[in-house]
Amino acid sequence: MPYLPSSQRYQSMEYRRCGKSGIKLPAVSLGLWHNFGHVDNYENCRRIIHLAFDSGITHFDLANNYGPPPGSAEENFGKILKQDLLGHRDELIISSKAGYYMWEGPYGEWGSKKYLVSSLDQSLKRMGLEYVDIFYHHRPDRETPLEEIMSALDLIVRQGKALYVGISNYKAEEAKAAIEILKQLGTPCLIHQPKYSMFDRWVEGGLLDVLEQNGVGCIPFSPLAQGLLTNRYLNGIPDDSRAGKPDGFLKPEHITEARIQQIRRLNEIAKKRGQSLAQMALSWILKDKRITSVLIGASKPEQLSDSLQCLHNTEFAANELTEIDAILK
Ligand SMILES: NC(=O)c1ccc[n+]([C@@H]2O[C@H](COP(=O)([O-])OP(=O)(O)OC[C@H]3O[C@@H](n4cnc5c(N)ncnc54)[C@H](OP(=O)(O)O)[C@@H]3O)[C@@H](O)[C@H]2O)c1
Repeated sequence: MPYLPSSQRYQSMEYRRCGKSGIKLPAVSLGLWHNFGHVDNYENCRRIIHLAFDSGITHFDLANNYGPPPGSAEENFGKILKQDLLGHRDELIISSKAGYYMWEGPYGEWGSKKYLVSSLDQSLKRMGLEYVDIFYHHRPDRETPLEEIMSALDLIVRQGKALYVGISNYKAEEAKAAIEILKQLGTPCLIHQPKYSMFDRWVEGGLLDVLEQNGVGCIPFSPLAQGLLTNRYLNGIPDDSRAGKPDGFLKPEHITEARIQQIRRLNEIAKKRGQSLAQMALSWILKDKRITSVLIGASKPEQLSDSLQCLHNTEFAANELTEIDAILK
């Protein structure tokens, strides 16, 4: 079926400025780490992307290694772009990354200029794009000089292969140093992509302050703790869930009895707020104005519809926050 985007697509989404840049991102962005590889159903991938775009999600996040197999999420996304969205390229913020293992030999992972430039060239080919909007260094590389990594990002922007650059998984001090080098090179760091959810609050210990002080945006990944902070595992591990599938990064051993107890108690608070647990987990992150966007995943269009409702209630009463903190201790 040919896809015709909804004419209402910009009516309900909130857009937040990314740090002190000119770019605004949707408060909810979609990531293609899981559920968009060649192992997944292509028509389902298409439906999720259509619903996202129809709902005002303008930002799609990829990386060289997303799949499985690695690279296949970029291939599928490229196919969907060509089939359905190419006339809308200028409405989209598409990101990719390099840092994890992609190919054999010494130049296929980490942070050398050789790897980052070659990897982005491969990503552009897979997606059929001339440029990405944001290119990230995916994880810190403590063996390659930070100056080389940042000068590779600067080069990529000067070559016109990316409009903006970002860093991911950098700790507060590492991020501060990277941001400073990029500033000196004349290619400011647009955004940082850290892991952040109710179950993993490390960014509150300094990173968010560094980003705010330097005018850099923040887009937390896995805000639903890969599905733990949803109704998915309230009654066991479904076969079609991330923890139930062989390729998922969430493993059954992560779903301990203590976790389930926490999830059930959080679910009770969500119910009182008139939200699903997924919605509350996302609202809880978005309550902080330093957050530009929450970067979610979805295996079905229905999950995306549910998660998007988080935008209707991002205020928390003091007693709700105290109750949540007590559960998370
Ligand atoms: N920079 C990095 O190092 C890094 C690392 C990880 C992720 N990321 C980025 O962050 C994106 C999101 O990561 P993530 O997929 O782990 O995020 P997540 O939003 O924490 O988890 C997504 C999973 O939660 C479940 N889910 C989502 N909405 C739901 C709902 N409303 N109700 C019930 N279940 C729901 C689904 O699980 P089921 O599949 O079980 O249905 C879905 O696959 C990635 O795609 C990627 O772009 C970046």
